[in-house]
Amino acid sequence: MKKVCVVTGGGSGIGFAAAKEAAKKGYYVMIVGRNEKKLAGAVEELRKDGCEAEAYSCDVSDREHCFALARHAAECGAVKAVLHIAGMSPHMGDAEKIMQANALGTVNINDAFFEVIAEGGCVIDTSSTSAYMAPSFIMPKRVYPLACTDRKLFMDKMMKKVKMFPRKTREGVAYSMSKHFTIWFAKQDAARFARKNARVLSITPGNFETPLGNLEKEEASTYLKFAAIKRNGLPEEIAPLYVALIDERLSYLTGTDILCDGGCIAGGASAFAR
Ligand SMILES: NC(=O)c1ccc[n+]([C@@H]2O[C@H](COP(=O)([O-])OP(=O)(O)OC[C@H]3O[C@@H](n4cnc5c(N)ncnc54)[C@H](OP(=O)(O)O)[C@@H]3O)[C@@H](O)[C@H]2O)c1
Repeated sequence: MKKVCVVTGGGSGIGFAAAKEAAKKGYYVMIVGRNEKKLAGAVEELRKDGCEAEAYSCDVSDREHCFALARHAAECGAVKAVLHIAGMSPHMGDAEKIMQANALGTVNINDAFFEVIAEGGCVIDTSSTSAYMAPSFIMPKRVYPLACTDRKLFMDKMMKKVKMFPRKTREGVAYSMSKHFTIWFAKQDAARFARKNARVLSITPGNFETPLGNLEKEEASTYLKFAAIKRNGLPEEIAPLYVALIDERLSYLTGTDILCDGGCIAGGASAFAR
């Protein structure tokens, strides 16, 4: 039976690098995103290297789409890994779209794959250092549990909080809140997946040279002085982390976030220190 690794956001940047790593390790890789042309190019490149891969077009903010994706993945083999890397940055859409893609998208993917994850499987969600840098007191933590019971109310309350901020900052605020939520969600979801003998983790990337990272480069460069490594990371420097963490021998590692940021947060980067 094939070992399936689903990579959302696998058409570019960190996701594509992770898809290549997973394919090299012998996984049947399913590359997920919205842009079919980009997905087809990524799959072609993997196949050229002799790897098994397919493209699946899916918007992670569409819940039904995510469940269909999960069902399809399970038909292809044992779903051993879900690298949920898709995400939208502040320059990629309005605040509501960002919240839907990053926060609800994570809920949708975890919920959908909970149904089909194989024993020993692992889901890795993706956050951002902006979750660590934004002041914790602005995060609507009491709203987060609603994501598990009433997603509409969750969205309404999250957006209400975002709209308390000046208009020109709202995309950035929505991004930070959605990524702060992602860490919380992955942590609390570990117990549910443990009942199926599966794990949930999150990875928090710092600044990486990707299409998304390049859009945020100017803002990100203000924090480089705090980093131990004074340059942006390359996708190839984080992709092996995703694939290392899905190793079934790491069966006691769950419910935690792993930072890969060149030591930026450790160096004291925060919204109050720029
Ligand atoms: N690069 C950085 O500096 C950095 C820093 C912190 C966190 N991150 C996080 O790392 C992850 C990967 O980003 P990246 O830097 O590799 O950027 P990227 O190359 O732009 O990748 C983002 C991917 O997400 C997909 N995507 C976006 N919205 C989607 C949706 N609604 N449904 C399905 N797919 C969607 C995009 O594919 P389609 O266009 O085909 O939909 C794209 O391939 C993101 O979650 C990002 O927030 C990146």
